[in-house]
Amino acid sequence: MSAQSDLVSLFAPGTAVVDGELVIGGVPATRLAAEFGTPAYVIDEGYLRTRVRAYRDGLAARWPNSRVYFASKSFPSTPIYRVMAEEGIGVDVAGGGEIVMALAGGVPGADLLLHGNAKTDAELRMALEAGVGLIVIDNFRDIERIEELASTPVDVLVRVRPNVGAATHVAMATATDASKFGLRLDDAREAIRRIEASSSLVMKGLHVHVGSQILQAAPFAEAIAAIGTLGDFEIYDLGGGLGERYTYSDPELSLDDYLDAVVDAARAALPADARILLEPGRSLVARAGCTLYEVVNVKASDSPLAPTFVAVNGGMADNLEVSLYGQRFEATVVDAVGGGEPVTLVGRHCESGDMLAEDVLLQSPEPGDIVAVPVTGAYCFTMSNNYNGALRPPVVFVAEGQARAVVRRETYADLIVRDMPI
Ligand SMILES: Cc1ncc(COP(=O)(O)O)c(C=O)c1O
Repeated sequence: MSAQSDLVSLFAPGTAVVDGELVIGGVPATRLAAEFGTPAYVIDEGYLRTRVRAYRDGLAARWPNSRVYFASKSFPSTPIYRVMAEEGIGVDVAGGGEIVMALAGGVPGADLLLHGNAKTDAELRMALEAGVGLIVIDNFRDIERIEELASTPVDVLVRVRPNVGAATHVAMATATDASKFGLRLDDAREAIRRIEASSSLVMKGLHVHVGSQILQAAPFAEAIAAIGTLGDFEIYDLGGGLGERYTYSDPELSLDDYLDAVVDAARAALPADARILLEPGRSLVARAGCTLYEVVNVKASDSPLAPTFVAVNGGMADNLEVSLYGQRFEATVVDAVGGGEPVTLVGRHCESGDMLAEDVLLQSPEPGDIVAVPVTGAYCFTMSNNYNGALRPPVVFVAEGQARAVVRRETYADLIVRDMPI
């Protein structure tokens, strides 16, 4: 592969270099930057829908009694919820805000599944009023609260933490003994007993989520085998967690190989007539997205310790994946795609950890150039913030040569609108 095709392979399939310029969803990146400004999150809507269908149909082909739920924490925004609703998949929400956004995006309450290790009474009431289809019991207090608040029986799953680890960042491992989520196998047995004795809760099944950005099949299979020991139930929610290729060196665990592994493990450990749910977030949206920035300054290396810094007009306010998890990204100048000299791509925020990509190849970057960072469709928009008064970027959908803003850029007025007179 050439440096250029290597780079393009990280973007949504269909992204191309035309007349030397990166074209996303049929729209030149320079045109997107000129029309919508930078930084901007660009989502290839066509690829997003293709990916949702591949998940939905790929799982159904292997295990017909199944459903995919979008883990909406990865991109909670009404246009994205609307795409998921239109494509007929369910949605996993964690808390009141995501319930509100999912309903506003057109997801029926019955298609929602509620998570949370600290669900408040207010959130449980919202979920019950919205007719949320399934509530995932994380702890014994969830059982008590639902018993008190529900006026009709509520379908629930019990979240199990079977002490399965995976090669991912420690903050993204959610099924080990050290995790705050769910119940250990023995406690899960006790929770199941209590729910089965309750008239307010209906014991539908089990939930397990190993973690996020996982690129090996074995941990998923291990977790499924572990929950299979708890007995036969109607539903098994096997969580999300399939990782994405962010860099040239990341191995690929393809969707087909992942689904094969999960379904093989389910065939071995779970009842044949059970309903299987999957809850992908990152692997649905990450590759559909990229972020466009403008280069503001290039500071040539002036000491053996300092690389050449290329500073753009965004950074840790629109992408926290680097500073939170050490996630590696690649980048390119959009009209000089792939290859170049190693530089360190940094943001505009007031700390040295404000990094987008260390030692990344860029071709002769200069102020005014537009830089694209691929694979930013997951967990970037949702963790965007106003550090240093940054305005949160717009979300632009591109498809078949057309582009439209589906979330506008924040304004300076937005930064002070909540403040009370003092
Ligand atoms: C319970 C649960 N389900 C699904 C997901 C989605 O994970 P991912 O985005 O890695 O697919 C998460 C996120 O970590 C989660 O906490």
